[in-house]
Parts: sequence; C-alpha cells; structure tokens
Amino acid sequence: MADLSSAPDAHVSVLAAEVVQALAPPLAATSDSILVDATTGLGGHTLRLLEAATPGLTVLLDRDTDALALAKERLNSAPCPLHFVHAPFSAIASELAAVDIETVTAIVADLGVSSIQLDRVERGFSFRGDAALDMRMDPSRGETAADVLADIQVPELTSILAKYGNEPDARRIAGAIVKMRPTTTAALADIVTNAMTGRQRRKLGLRIHPATRTFQALRIHVNDELGELQRLLADAPSLLAVGGRLGIITFHSLEDRRVKHRFRELSAPPQLPPHLPILESERPRPKFSLPSEFARGVTPSTAELDANPRSRSARLRVLQRDLP
Ligand SMILES: C[S@@+](CC[C@H](N)C(=O)[O-])C[C@H]1O[C@@H](n2cnc3c(N)ncnc32)[C@H](O)[C@@H]1O
Repeated sequence: MADLSSAPDAHVSVLAAEVVQALAPPLAATSDSILVDATTGLGGHTLRLLEAATPGLTVLLDRDTDALALAKERLNSAPCPLHFVHAPFSAIASELAAVDIETVTAIVADLGVSSIQLDRVERGFSFRGDAALDMRMDPSRGETAADVLADIQVPELTSILAKYGNEPDARRIAGAIVKMRPTTTAALADIVTNAMTGRQRRKLGLRIHPATRTFQALRIHVNDELGELQRLLADAPSLLAVGGRLGIITFHSLEDRRVKHRFRELSAPPQLPPHLPILESERPRPKFSLPSEFARGVTPSTAELDANPRSRSARLRVLQRDLP
C-alpha cells in the first residue's frame, strides 16, 4: 500500500508497532479473519495492521464522518474488503449483527480525539484559534460544549473539571465560566486563564496552556467518553472468536483503570466455594487471558515519546479469548 504517513492531514498513530505485535498474529492465522477498528480516525492503526496481515474483512467504525471520509481515501488500496460504519463504538455489537457478523478476530480501540479534530479549529476542540465551542466528535447529534455551558450550575461543572480534568482550581474556574457562559473557544480559554490562581499558572509553566485541563474535561463530558468505554468493555469481549484479541489504547487514568479492571475480571479464574472436592483438571478456566507480553499494559518507548509527545499518557492493554 502507498505510504501516506506524510500526507498533510496525517495523524501519528500511537503505539502502532505494539498494536501490530498484539493483533497481527491472530489476523494472519486464517484467511477469513475479521478486523474491527472501533476508532478509525485516519485509519493509521488499520493501515499498519493491513501491512502485516490480510484479514478477510475489515470493519471500520467512527462517530466522526470527516474521519471516515479521510480514512476511506487513505485506505483505498487496502488488500481486503472494507466496511465503513458511522456509529459510536458503544453500538459495536448491533452494528456487527446488522451485517451478520457474530464473532471477530481482532478489535482495536484507540480512545480520545484525533489530531485532525484538534487541528481543525472549526471543530471547537482547541484553545489554539477561535471558533464556536462545539467539541462533538459526531457533529450531527448531541449537545455542543456551548449548549452544556449555557445552563450548567457551578457544582456540576466543578465536579466535571475535577474528575475528568484533575483541575485543582476546578471550583474557581467553574464559578468564572458560569458567570460568563462562553460560546467560543477563545472566550473559554481567556476565562480559564484569568480565573486560575497565579500559583497554578506558574506550576503549569509555559509548556501547558492553562485551559488544557478544562478543555479535556469538557470534551470527555460532551462526548460521554467514559460511558462509551463502559459499553465497549461490556460488549466487545464476547464478540471475540477463540484466539481473538481486543486491544485498547487509553490516554487517561480514568479510562485505563476501567480497562484494567474489566480485563482482570474477565481473565480471573471463576470463583468456586472453598473445599469443593474437584480435581485441578476439572477446575473451570476463565474464557479470557492477558497475553504475557501485555499483561501489565505497554507504554510508548522513549523514541516514540520523543517523536510524538501526544503519546505521553498512552497505555495499550490486550485481552485474548481462549478455548472454552
Ligand atoms: C485517536 S483517534 C484514532 C486514530 C487512529 N487510530 C489512527 O491511527 O489514525 C480517535 C478516533 O476515535 C473516534 N472516536 C472516539 N470515541 C469514539 C466512540 N465512542 N465511537 C466511535 N468513534 C470514536 C474519534 O472520532 C477519532 O476519530
């Protein structure tokens, strides 16, 4: 396939070599394997996987139609059929059922926003530039960030900023936002910068914009990112065929904690009453395991961190479906 990694809209895929290491072997094992990219973005992970293995079919989901259009172009010489789906990954089970797919070989989910969404000022995700305060990954539905700020009260906004942004000045910033109820990215960035204490601003230094945590928190809230993840974690494991793998890349400890707990729960031996008289060989085994090289999750190498600072909080965890 043509190398499009330097195309103008290129998004650098995080932990791409590790995703290939985790998911290419089961995809290469049979000619009728199925790959699902739950967060297509610019198709970077799919592109890398299709260089290493040729599945029988690849299904690509994204809730952003701009991303799907770009990925379609980028993957136009893919070596297998592609099926693009405009849907949130919380609907993964029903979207696959709609095309008569019961089980799949590999699912990759690379959470969060793409650099395209951040870089396109008009999408309203970024404090760099001025635009309507939108932040929806799917601009065709749901409330914008401006809609949310139009009638939210201080306690709820404080809790969003503290929980999703780890913002130490949450209460003070929430108070200032509610007073002004901004509708543009530049107005929000100014309000946050002015509301933050000098001490907090100095702590952030010049490297991090004072509004970074507020923008992240609002984005997570507007797109219900934790609810989406919860539903993916509930449904995706049972879609795996035996030997199939699910790889999830998170960028936030709130997300990683959920993935870690769910994967541990699924791979733990079923609990039996103590002293039950059964042979070790009869003991029921879990249906899932954590491949040993990914058991604790993997983080980017120093080389990747140097080349792509956006990868700094990324962690990949992998779950495998085993023989019953
Ligand atoms: C980090 S980017 C993916 C980049 C991609 N892996 C690549 O290498 O080009 C995340 C993408 O997932 C999409 N996304 C985030 N949450 C989603 C959800 N709940 N359902 C479907 N797509 C989602 C975003 O719209 C965005 O395009």
